[in-house]
Amino acid sequence: MLTNPACKYAPFPPVRLTHRQWPNRTITAPPIWMSTDLRDGNQALFEPMDGVRKLQLFRALCDIGFKEIEVAFPSASETDFDFVRLLIEGNHIPSDVTIAVLTHARAPLIRRTLEALKDARRAIVHIVNATSKPFRDMVLGMDQAAVLAMATSSVELVKQLSTEQPDTDWTIEYSLETFTATELDFALEVANAVTAASVATPTQRLILNLPASVEVTTPNVYADQIEWMHCRLAKRDCIVLSIHPHNDRGTAVAAAELALMAGAERVEGCLFGNGERTGNVDLVTLALNLYTQGVSPGLDFSNINAVLRIVEECTQLPISARHPYVGDLVFTAFSGSHQDAIKKGLAAQQPDFLWNVPYLPIDPADLGRSYESVIRVNSQSGKGGISYLLENTYGVCLPRRLLVEFSCLVQRHVDHQGGEIVAADLWRLFTEAYLETTHPLRYIKHQIFECDAQGIHLTVEWAGATHLLCGEGNGPIDAAVHALQNLGVHIQVQSYEERSIGKNAVGSDARACAFLEVATENGKAYGAGIDVNIVTASLKALVSATNRLAAHTLTAMPT
Ligand code: KIV
Ligand code: ZN
Repeated sequence: MLTNPACKYAPFPPVRLTHRQWPNRTITAPPIWMSTDLRDGNQALFEPMDGVRKLQLFRALCDIGFKEIEVAFPSASETDFDFVRLLIEGNHIPSDVTIAVLTHARAPLIRRTLEALKDARRAIVHIVNATSKPFRDMVLGMDQAAVLAMATSSVELVKQLSTEQPDTDWTIEYSLETFTATELDFALEVANAVTAASVATPTQRLILNLPASVEVTTPNVYADQIEWMHCRLAKRDCIVLSIHPHNDRGTAVAAAELALMAGAERVEGCLFGNGERTGNVDLVTLALNLYTQGVSPGLDFSNINAVLRIVEECTQLPISARHPYVGDLVFTAFSGSHQDAIKKGLAAQQPDFLWNVPYLPIDPADLGRSYESVIRVNSQSGKGGISYLLENTYGVCLPRRLLVEFSCLVQRHVDHQGGEIVAADLWRLFTEAYLETTHPLRYIKHQIFECDAQGIHLTVEWAGATHLLCGEGNGPIDAAVHALQNLGVHIQVQSYEERSIGKNAVGSDARACAFLEVATENGKAYGAGIDVNIVTASLKALVSATNRLAAHTLTAMPT
């Protein structure tokens, strides 16, 4: 462990920007999106995609709504060259989509690249060369003048070759690779020179891409660098200012957002942040961050799980369960207090009002995710999650004190079993504990009759023998309580609630659910009963409560 990192690492120098504007801005429109999944993303895979996978992902990108897609580095590999040919010759490129291809700023590579693009309807030729001092000194062995000359001559060559293919609508993109580590004065000099060489006009703009090829500093510094360039470019109106953040410090999304505030208009990145090392900026997160600020991103992630499946299949890289917006667990709350807040928030949320649900920055339904997966129950959960799952899956809303009692039972179950408990398990536990109690008392049937008060003939099984009991009271439940006294069962009803439940919630005919709490001097217990007939449901609840009290399973009632 290095105790003094200052001996080894220096802070990145700030940009001298006296009147920076970006901190006061908000993003009100989406950028031009450029997917580089098939180029930068593909380059970063253990096993680069073959043509079949590339085509599958290309189609998915088109379906999502990308209008600019970097499809290959044709001078670098035959597979990439062939893929460009396949797209063009196979007529796979939708009329509103422009493909881009990358080339280094070297004449033979540029020639090969334009060969790959023969007969394309439209194309972006993306030239890249590194400009930073470490690259000039260590990698290229060139001084500033040589790098500048390479940049302008490569743009001139593309211009010249493109006139030989006049049926294609050409756009030039120029990337100052390692821009963030390049002296800003020199970056500006290169940018202005390539703009001039490209003969860009306001209607035929050059795409000037300023990548954070390696993320070396905090997002605000990237934003400063972009604003510095944005304000000084000689022919700003002839330029589409583009960014290409990588994620080495884990802040690519933030860097992209601040850079957009600083004047960038176009973003290059990959779905779910695939790409070299720690990845390119995650375009899904970026787009959905905009969406949650009320800005329509122009990309369709309404079935985000389908996008995830295609990306995982094509890249063979798993996406983390915690990945923003898409991970398996991002719409899941295990903590009881979170579950409680989400449950209350979802209940309060009105359909046509601004989304305002605690712990859920986005409505999962907007991404094709379901509410059922929102709340899950494990040993860290509380009553909120249990109640939510029972209510949403089975239409059964437990009275508060019964919920408290039942959650103790659930807690014991998960503590014993470990792991997570799903709605079906909860319902089975509830059924076993409350609805299917037949010992020592089992409800068989009843008949109500009129007398001075309310009379009942109650047929039950008690300790194995069938009994026909008779009782009277001020209602059917009171009459049944009196009838049970014939068996020596002396109970008092402490509370009673009934609810109607959905027809298909727990069985085709189920309609009414009764919850009833009984007490003796030895304790209290809840019971529950479900039936199409409310009186029958209540009598079943009475029997359930009596059995539970007799079993002394949960006599101590939590408050
Ligand atoms: O990261 C980078 O600088 C690149 C360039 C080719 C744009 O991928
Ligand atoms: Zn890159």
